[in-house]
Amino acid sequence: MKLTVVGGGSTYTPELIDGFARLRAQLPIEELWLVDPDPERLRLVGGISERMFRAAGHPGRIVITSDLVAGVADADAVLVQLRIGGQDARRGDETWPHECGCIGQETTGPGGFAKALRTVPVVLRVADAVRRHAKPDAWIVDFTNPVGIVTRALLSEGHRAVGLCNVAIGFQRAFAGMLGVAPAAVQLGHVGLNHLTWERHAWVRDADGLQSDALPQLLRERGPELAAHVELEPGLIDLLGMLPSYYLRYYYAHDIVLREQQGEPTRADVVQQVERELLDVYADPSVDTKPPQLERRGGAYYSEAAVDLISSLASDRGDVQVVNLRNDGILPFLPDDHVIEVPATVDARGVRALPVEPLPADVAGLVSHVAGYERLALDAAIHGGRDRVRRAMLAHPLVQQYDRAERLTDLLIAENREHLAWA
Ligand code: G6P
Ligand code: MN
Repeated sequence: MKLTVVGGGSTYTPELIDGFARLRAQLPIEELWLVDPDPERLRLVGGISERMFRAAGHPGRIVITSDLVAGVADADAVLVQLRIGGQDARRGDETWPHECGCIGQETTGPGGFAKALRTVPVVLRVADAVRRHAKPDAWIVDFTNPVGIVTRALLSEGHRAVGLCNVAIGFQRAFAGMLGVAPAAVQLGHVGLNHLTWERHAWVRDADGLQSDALPQLLRERGPELAAHVELEPGLIDLLGMLPSYYLRYYYAHDIVLREQQGEPTRADVVQQVERELLDVYADPSVDTKPPQLERRGGAYYSEAAVDLISSLASDRGDVQVVNLRNDGILPFLPDDHVIEVPATVDARGVRALPVEPLPADVAGLVSHVAGYERLALDAAIHGGRDRVRRAMLAHPLVQQYDRAERLTDLLIAENREHLAWA
């Protein structure tokens, strides 16, 4: 198999390499192509990737290139993990919304919208190259944020795409650890939109293959620990009877998070420091394993999720994984072509969502509200134009007021002009 990673110069790549090396029986890669516009990053990341493969006895060949077409040519699968504007643009997303009393975050709220506007046109160009040059049945696995909007952009253009995030696999691993069972024995009742999800069940198979829901017991016995894991109040989790993801803090604890953010360095600053350290380590020819500093990035288990997904798409395993895919009636209050994040069966034919029981009114309401914003945001990302941006900005539940939406629109455009072809 030829696998291509677009954005392969990311400091995350050794996380992927570690998974590819450990799980090589599950995903036999003959060629791994890392594509990135930054030659220096490619050299450093490619170097450690190569050493990690050799140290693990992986027979695959690693090729680095800045030529997208060569990178995706004849690929069997393409993983897209890019960040337009890098950490500098991210720092903007994390700060200018503060001027209007909104949290700053790279995937949620006004900052996430800015990221969507910068990113969608680029990912669509990458996908176009995949359509022209990769194998005809090649899958695009999108880890590029905002994953829900980007995946919908890809699907709406007819690409074979699935969106991936590591939030769900993180819960699966955490629950399995607390229950003392293998991760594969835990199936999540995970529902929502990317970075707007709740865990409603943790189905565990016993030796007889019977499923029982361990989440009520976990919430009862390990409530404070789970609350700390998602940085929310135990009382909120008791009230909901389900576990929101960490990204729901930006809604349920908006003002607290805003105050925290105003007194702290941005995540972009922190990540930039980690990246400097990582690139120094990657430059050291004696290092041939995943460095511990990588744990300070948010991508835990990303490689395992990616290997699981790509290997099931390439085979007929038909196992259940949480992915981003077309709604098609699963959440009946959303349009069929919306992209949702739920458990799905994965096999060579693609992904098919499992049925989801009706959502409680508060969750359905918030999901609908954010989905409305996401649709307008994609429209703005594809067609451009200030009025489309204003309309989507106003639609975001964290914005909602006209004067704030106007000011945020001005800030977004001023901060992102170099990345917006129409601005
Ligand atoms: C989690 C999210 C990803 C996001 C990452 C950010 O893994 O699921 O979508 O890209 O965090 O991590 P970082 O180290 O860049 O803050
Ligand atoms: Mn994610």
